[in-house]
Amino acid sequence: MEEQQASVGTRPAVLETKSKPLPLSRVKSEEGKHIPVGIDELDRVLGGGYIPGCLGLIGGDPGIGKSTIVTQMLAKLVAKGKSILYVSAEESASQIKLRADRMGVTSDAFLVLTENCLERIIDHAKNIRPDILVIDSIQTVYTNDIQSAPGTVSQVRECAGKLMILAKGATIATFLIGHVTKDGTIAGPKVLEHMVDTVLYFEGERGHPYRILRTIKNRFGSTNEIGVFEMTGTGLNEVKDPSGIFLSERAANAAGSAVVSVLEGSRPVLLEVQALVTGSGLANPRRTALGIETARMNILVAVLEKIVGIHLADQDVYVNIAGGMKITEPSCYLGVISAIYSSFNNSAIDGNTLLIGEVGLTGEIRAVTGLETRLKEAFKLGFKRAIVPKANLKGTFPKGMEIEGISKVEQCFDLWSASGSPF
Ligand code: TYD
Ligand code: MG
Repeated sequence: MEEQQASVGTRPAVLETKSKPLPLSRVKSEEGKHIPVGIDELDRVLGGGYIPGCLGLIGGDPGIGKSTIVTQMLAKLVAKGKSILYVSAEESASQIKLRADRMGVTSDAFLVLTENCLERIIDHAKNIRPDILVIDSIQTVYTNDIQSAPGTVSQVRECAGKLMILAKGATIATFLIGHVTKDGTIAGPKVLEHMVDTVLYFEGERGHPYRILRTIKNRFGSTNEIGVFEMTGTGLNEVKDPSGIFLSERAANAAGSAVVSVLEGSRPVLLEVQALVTGSGLANPRRTALGIETARMNILVAVLEKIVGIHLADQDVYVNIAGGMKITEPSCYLGVISAIYSSFNNSAIDGNTLLIGEVGLTGEIRAVTGLETRLKEAFKLGFKRAIVPKANLKGTFPKGMEIEGISKVEQCFDLWSASGSPF
């Protein structure tokens, strides 16, 4: 209620320009204007770099590494001679210094401003005219035009609106940092997604060093791209070969382990699915999934029971994606089902075989997109065989890779056995 009253009478933040109608042919394209930051994993998700005057949003859980990645980005840009302004509205200058020291960032051209008031921030930005401005975070700044507290929907929107006018008007590439909030009293970055040009989310699991920077929206490039980083004692390191890293700790030919390939934008990433099936003493056996939806795992367990005919009603079933990764793509279902089956039978899946396919409720194997790209990456990493949907078999696949096309889930169990024979 207070929220609504607060926004009554305040002009909605719109981009004010004195532009005239123009024939489309005379409109200048933003194509090719990307300025690379020099961190490949970041440039990839930005579509090649930042665009002067763009407004970007970097969202993520508290503590995931948002301030760290922008500090690294700004340090790179300073080294390239760009002028920058890092505004922190939640940490003191000495805390920022401590982080920068840890990462070896020392430049005098790295300008830090600790300020919460948006009007003062905009004054400084207009004076300094940096190429790049970072606001850390949008939920802790406030504009005097609105009564409500920082972090409320109206404050967050109004501040972002004013920063958009600054970004476009003064051609300052501006990045807003937004904490994903579980508590509804503070507006999450979602309320800004429609206003900004680019939305990046930083994901990762606590206790795991790997971080994924994912493009959710990009007016200047493709979405669904990912950048992979590893949090170390001295900042975030780029992970150029994510598949190699995620598979590096895999135990060869262990029961319950399957390798799948997920397509992240244009980039295939190989991941290990692990399953553990153990006898349960519980009336309702445990079903726990980490990295895939539990509901999805339950469906795949039901397919195994009804279609494949194995009895899991008295078994606990655990599924985990190694490395703290998350998979939302259906192409991993064949791998998940195989890992569960493999653990249940205590029989390993051949370590050189990749499993790709969506499994439907009748046990049918459905086609996936981008199979050629996925197989090329797997072949590069030494995978010799792949079990794939039959409907996908028309493509051109790596020479020297054995490809088996299947149309029913039960056909795969005879094909992947590490011992070379069906059970
Ligand atoms: P931070 O960038 O402050 O997260 P956010 O801005 O998203 O809240 O990073 C937080 C965590 O990262 C913190 O727990 C400490 C850790 N960290 C490292 O492990 N190594 C480093 O070099 C830095 C700077 C941070
Ligand atoms: Mg931070």
